[in-house]
Amino acid sequence: MEHMVPLPGIYDPDFIAANQGSRANYLIKGTKKQQLDQVIKDIRDFKENNKVDRVVVLWTANTERYSNVVAGLNDTTENLMSSLDKNESEISPSTLYAIACVLENVPFINGSPQNTFVPGLIELAIKRNSLIGGDDFKSGQTKMKSVLVDFLVGAGIKPTSIVSYNHLGNNDGMNLSAPQTFRSKEISKSNVVDDMVASNGIMFESGEHPDHVVVIKYVPYVGDSKRAMDEYTSEIFMGGKNTIVMHNTCEDSLLAAPIILDLVLLAELTTRIQFKAENEGKFHSFHPVATILSYLSKSPLVPPGTPVVNALSKQRAMLENILRACVGLAPENNMILEYK
Ligand SMILES: NC(=O)c1ccc[n+]([C@@H]2O[C@H](COP(=O)([O-])OP(=O)(O)OC[C@H]3O[C@@H](n4cnc5c(N)ncnc54)[C@H](O)[C@@H]3O)[C@@H](O)[C@H]2O)c1
Repeated sequence: MEHMVPLPGIYDPDFIAANQGSRANYLIKGTKKQQLDQVIKDIRDFKENNKVDRVVVLWTANTERYSNVVAGLNDTTENLMSSLDKNESEISPSTLYAIACVLENVPFINGSPQNTFVPGLIELAIKRNSLIGGDDFKSGQTKMKSVLVDFLVGAGIKPTSIVSYNHLGNNDGMNLSAPQTFRSKEISKSNVVDDMVASNGIMFESGEHPDHVVVIKYVPYVGDSKRAMDEYTSEIFMGGKNTIVMHNTCEDSLLAAPIILDLVLLAELTTRIQFKAENEGKFHSFHPVATILSYLSKSPLVPPGTPVVNALSKQRAMLENILRACVGLAPENNMILEYK
């Protein structure tokens, strides 16, 4: 890729760590509206110059801080678009890229944890039936967690304390050393056990949940070889305790790059799938908020009012069964009745 020249990007120091300033040397300047127009032009030119049929955009730039969701500012499409015209400072760069993509009907995937998809943007994507998906690649520690907690809860072993440390030495780690950007990652990493805990109403009373702590420390020496250290303490039979400790040396970029490719391929494929129920007259596409990407996402974006599934095996079963349906096979039910 060394011969590839990236396009200039939108830089807003308010949204990322101050320590990123020296890297920001090739920028789209102007008002938010002018920046949006430039991104739209870049998408069109890219399509034209590279003679490609389809474009998919994926955000793998810095983790931003959360945007404030404020009534009148970004809570509806109308308010978001008028805020854009007013050059409101609370519209993040990633949201600008996402608006550009939705307006161009180009799928947009958010590989970072921040709330790029503010309510006004989700509404716009639904109105224009333009695919959006995310958030945050599920590459290392969280992927393991979405397997292990599912296993523990399913096996009747009650996790009561989950403590996760990350030592990260790449530029992502440096950016996450600022409290605001760390908070985005903390939120994204924290919700992952919720559905698995809620799935067992016998083990966990309503509202009860394990202590879940996530710490990320910038340790330059480890570079891209992120250390993920986890301690899972659980209650077992007769008040006994079970403790699992894990040490995972994640090659951060090597784990993320294949996920990036899969997300792009799946997103594009999803835009070409149409289906209808027996009682429906016409075929229609999937909901533009692409839950099919949740297998690869740490904090799956779902349409308003839809349950979030984090358990990796359930996410995989959904993906596998949808792809089976596409080639005319029945869903895999694992009953293995033919051998019974
Ligand atoms: N395993 C993983 O690597 C992994 C897993 C989950 C999520 N993520 C997320 O993916 C993102 C990228 O991770 P990374 O390790 O490659 O980070 P990185 O800091 O090495 O790379 C991000 C790059 O984006 C550039 N950038 C920032 N704002 C930009 C903009 N507006 N337009 C264009 N470029 C911009 C930065 O200069 C930097 O070069 C982070 O948000 C990270 O949290 C990574």
